[in-house]
Amino acid sequence: MTTTTNSLSQDQLKTLVGQAALQYVVPDEIVGVGTGSTVNKFIDALATMKDQIRGAVSSSLASTERLQALGIKVFDANEVEALAVYIDGADEIDGKGYMVKGGGAALTREKIVAALAKQFVCIADESKLVDVLGEFPLPVEVIPMAAAQIQRRFEALGGTASIRQKDGKPLVTDNGQHIIDVRGLKINDPLEFESTVNQWPGVVTVGVFAHQKAGVCLLGTSSGVRTMTF
Ligand code: 5RP
Repeated sequence: MTTTTNSLSQDQLKTLVGQAALQYVVPDEIVGVGTGSTVNKFIDALATMKDQIRGAVSSSLASTERLQALGIKVFDANEVEALAVYIDGADEIDGKGYMVKGGGAALTREKIVAALAKQFVCIADESKLVDVLGEFPLPVEVIPMAAAQIQRRFEALGGTASIRQKDGKPLVTDNGQHIIDVRGLKINDPLEFESTVNQWPGVVTVGVFAHQKAGVCLLGTSSGVRTMTF
């Protein structure tokens, strides 16, 4: 289903899908919340119904801070057995709901919270829809002492791997680890690729979300919100 709108900026498209995601929030439940600029729009929208939910489980310190600032209670993931829904953005999503995530370095906690949820609702603007994953540099969270050998493994697959930097030093994630970004990959079989990379010693999380793909994607397009189901 597509709702028609006039031409909107990328920021407006993010607002649109952030608001559209409210329809998937189940009253009196705890909602799983992702990370990023699109999710920030969702969090802002969620504040309008904060009295109708018990709270949220968050996938990053940044989202936790934003949720709490808006008066939304944040539960530890260990306090929750299951979530009805997890709402998050993506760096890329394909026609089957497979995604690349981790542009905001939150991929590990995102996978953990997504694994608690019965349904993954992806919110994204249309620039994120791709035929084949891999155009966006693939984020991989790694234990720092394994970084060089993991980079060599990606280079053997034809990729170019670099350690993500912040202020001239390796970026440190919320989990105290580093991120490798891999350019030049074509991920034709996301399920197999995710399983393979998960086996490499020192990999904490690979940013391919295939085993935990989206069930729904609310895609912000120039003609409105397109709902894709997988
Ligand atoms: C963070 C993520 C985000 O979902 C992804 O980077 C998309 O972010 P944005 O909504 O800002 O484009 O995976 O780790």
